[in-house]
Amino acid sequence: MKAAPAPAAAPAEPPVLAVDGLAVRYGRTEVISDVTLSVRRGEALALIGESGSGKSVTVLAVTGLLARGGAISGGTVTLDGEEIGRLSERERRRRGLLGRRVGMIFQNPSRALDPVCTVGQQLNEALRLTGLADRAALRARGAEWLRHVGLPDPGEALDRYPHQLSGGQRQRAMIAIALASEPELLIADEPTTALDVTIQAQVLNLIRGMQRELNLALILVTHDFGVVAAMADRVAVMYGGQVVETASVGEIIRTPRHPYTRALLRSLPTGAPGARIAALAGSVPQAGAMPSGCHFHPRCPLAQPRCAAVAPTFTMASHGRLMRCLRAEELADDR
Ligand SMILES: Nc1ncnc2c1ncn2[C@@H]1O[C@H](COP(=O)(O)OP(=O)(O)OP(=O)(O)O)[C@@H](O)[C@H]1O
Ligand SMILES: [Mg+2]
Repeated sequence: MKAAPAPAAAPAEPPVLAVDGLAVRYGRTEVISDVTLSVRRGEALALIGESGSGKSVTVLAVTGLLARGGAISGGTVTLDGEEIGRLSERERRRRGLLGRRVGMIFQNPSRALDPVCTVGQQLNEALRLTGLADRAALRARGAEWLRHVGLPDPGEALDRYPHQLSGGQRQRAMIAIALASEPELLIADEPTTALDVTIQAQVLNLIRGMQRELNLALILVTHDFGVVAAMADRVAVMYGGQVVETASVGEIIRTPRHPYTRALLRSLPTGAPGARIAALAGSVPQAGAMPSGCHFHPRCPLAQPRCAAVAPTFTMASHGRLMRCLRAEELADDR
């Protein structure tokens, strides 16, 4: 019997967030130079790479939270089809770009929670952005969110200050606050590294569960391939201020293409969950001192002389994967 023809692909929904060729400078130093990624509704994208590769700068640029002196110097950031990269802080606030449409979960909850306001007051601020105004309704909805993220005794927790909660509870409260405004995009930058190992898995499961339940676009920044495998649908691998490869989690783990992705996976202790990336030989080049040509060439086992001279672009290779390597075509089938 003849195989049925493949069903016509459903028209692709445009991504919630599209970052294209993003560059950021601190003063005169370009710290990321060409970051391209996108994330759709209901999709979890992991952003992975060694320390200093530009993961945090990327998400801070998207949220408009770059530290003083930092500015977007190239490329675009598009949220729901609207370019937001160059908006002033005032305009971002007016359009609800942080706190309402984009929720952010930081590594350290003390950075995001206000120490002089109760959890309830901070939840109310987020809930008011959704149009809720009635005091009793705010309190009820606030308690509901705290119950949803698994805080024991949510009614009482509403009246607590952040320092009266444990580290894991603070992180849960921050997740509730980030979600209470019903954002379209949630960004979590290493949300569990400050927590005990036993609590880490619980908080990650909570984030993944919420992302699925609310059909959110999620960007999860992590060092940890165990977390990637458990949490993400797709992966963007960063090196030296650029995205060097993107693919589905399955593809990245089964058939990593880019020499850096391969090196990253090889550097892991065999499949140990929770394993952090062991140091590859050499280190990530410093911003302002990027090698010529391909940023990875000095550490690349497959480098050729041309790799020091020619900067590879981020392009689709014939096997349908986006990557940044002059040898992309040769690397398609040699594994
Ligand atoms: N406020 C800043 N001023 C100047 N340079 C900065 C600033 N923040 C980051 N950088 C530089 O930008 C580059 C990328 O840093 P980033 O914090 O994004 O790395 P990362 O991938 O998040 O690393 P980690 O895994 O350690 O969190 C680094 O070279 C860093 O030194
Ligand atoms: Mg970081």
